[in-house]
Amino acid sequence: MFCFFVLSWITIPMTLVMARPINMGLLNRASSSSTSIYSFDSTNHATRNITDGEFAGRSYLVHLPSDYDKDKNHAVVLSFHGNGGTSSQQETISQLSDTGMTINDLGIIAVYPQASLGKGRDGGQKENSWQGAPYAADGVDDIGFTSTILDEVSANLAVDAERFYATGKSNGGGFTNLLACTPSINVRFAAFATISAALYPDTLPGVDASDTSTACNPKRQIPILISHGYNDTTIPYLGQTERDGSTDYRTPNIDSFAESWAKRNVQYLNSSSDAVAQFTTTDPYTNTLQRLYTIGKVLQLSLNYFQHCWPSEAGLDCDKASFNLTPAKLLSFLEANPLN
Ligand SMILES: *[C@@H]1O[C@H](CO)[C@@H](O)[C@H](O)[C@H]1NC(C)=O
Ligand SMILES: *[C@@H]1O[C@H](CO)[C@@H](O)[C@H](O)[C@H]1NC(C)=O
Ligand SMILES: *[C@@H]1O[C@H](CO)[C@@H](O)[C@H](O)[C@H]1NC(C)=O
Repeated sequence: MFCFFVLSWITIPMTLVMARPINMGLLNRASSSSTSIYSFDSTNHATRNITDGEFAGRSYLVHLPSDYDKDKNHAVVLSFHGNGGTSSQQETISQLSDTGMTINDLGIIAVYPQASLGKGRDGGQKENSWQGAPYAADGVDDIGFTSTILDEVSANLAVDAERFYATGKSNGGGFTNLLACTPSINVRFAAFATISAALYPDTLPGVDASDTSTACNPKRQIPILISHGYNDTTIPYLGQTERDGSTDYRTPNIDSFAESWAKRNVQYLNSSSDAVAQFTTTDPYTNTLQRLYTIGKVLQLSLNYFQHCWPSEAGLDCDKASFNLTPAKLLSFLEANPLN
């Protein structure tokens, strides 16, 4: 089999080889070896379908940067889509596969996990949903799925173990928050980002004091970027106590949510301290308020006149913003917060 492959390879006409320079590059640098679970196409994408074990049938999309080098350690950014979304939509709106997205001057490996079918929101049509939302499938173990993705990516690609990051939008942002609150998995991520996050009670870090079973106890500091639009009608900035009569859909005020993370992070440094989490405010972009909790390790961006969207100038998700969140703020925040 091996000999046949080599022979047929060297008999490939030179014109064909010349016509496919990107493939050649990838074959050399990435995963042509028979042990790799990924097969990258000419655009540096691979869809991994897990075929056995507990997560058989689950899939995720991987994108390698154009400067991928198996002898270097690349940062890995996971990005979780919103309810009803897909890996490939998340790739478009997050800009994480765009040319020039780097951490430590090296292209990032972007990973877009795909959610599985949920119960349906408000009894409606079933959609792809992440654990932690009231409409997610009962018992779905997306934390375990994420852990398997981290294992597979680590075993097959040239990664920087100090620089795995989790980001997500809406339901994917709520799930990202659940990852941040869960000590068994949060130790594998350096920092987090939640965009227009759907922070339902089962994803919520303890601002819901009436329900201690959902209180967040991350057992470490959690650097986190939080972006939310003031005109978000899906997940209102000021929070909601219920939706259509169901308190399962209650969500916190976003300013309180950000402050609760900063306070926990300060307390983790000094449990005897009652220090209030201090922040400074600036207006880095038009219609954008930034709160930076330096000791609290929270970067909060609040966008005026902005809906339920991942901020980009082109409006790749929905509303146009005055800046591209990913290159302008997200990557530098992640870069500044490695695991150790
Ligand atoms: C993985 O699964 C998806 C959806 O089930 C399918 O469209 C795709 O072709 C599969 N990819 C591979 C490489 O098997
Ligand atoms: C912890 O907080 C207490 C009370 O605010 C303060 O006296 C002490 O110096 C702090 N310790 C450290 C290591 O920051
Ligand atoms: C929409 O955004 C503007 C600016 O942030 C804010 O003043 C206004 O209250 C918001 N409207 C609603 C309905 O949230």
